Amino acid sequence: MQVPQLTIFEQVGGAATFIRLADEFYRRIDTDPDIRGMFPADLTGAKERLGLFLIQYFGGPSTYSEQRGHPRLRMRHVPFSIGQAERDIWVGHMLGAIDSLGIEEPARTQMIEYFERGATFMINRDDS
Ligand code: HEM
Repeated sequence: MQVPQLTIFEQVGGAATFIRLADEFYRRIDTDPDIRGMFPADLTGAKERLGLFLIQYFGGPSTYSEQRGHPRLRMRHVPFSIGQAERDIWVGHMLGAIDSLGIEEPARTQMIEYFERGATFMINRDDS
């Protein structure tokens, strides 16, 4: 029997889940003294940008690119000093956010793999 292939967007419950994920992630950033200063004072826009990007990346509507153009994420992160330490904090908060929503397998592992790889790709400061 043929098993229909669902996107991660569909598997986890659509746009509402990614909006909640961005909220949970930024709630953690907001109280992290080590990393809070990298982000804008008002996190409203940042939450919205992250939520829309993730909706698009995981197979939902491409509202992010309609509003912001091609993602070019590495370029958009160049203004921020991102070393291994910042990368690890970022990933830690994203994993916390994922688990707070109870996202189920196999989507959970696929999302974590993306975030770990993607966050490493954003590193633009070599501390060695
Ligand atoms: C897979 C990993 C990551 C993804 C998918 C991601 C995604 C994004 C997106 C979509 C934006 C908004 C871009 C725009 O439209 O202007 C953004 C902004 C930002 N990211 Fe990341 N990011 C990642 C990793 C990181 C890491 C490791 C750091 C550093 C700790 C970081 C720090 C920031 C900062 C400071 C902003 C500006 C906040 C704002 O005003 O939007 N990001 N990120």
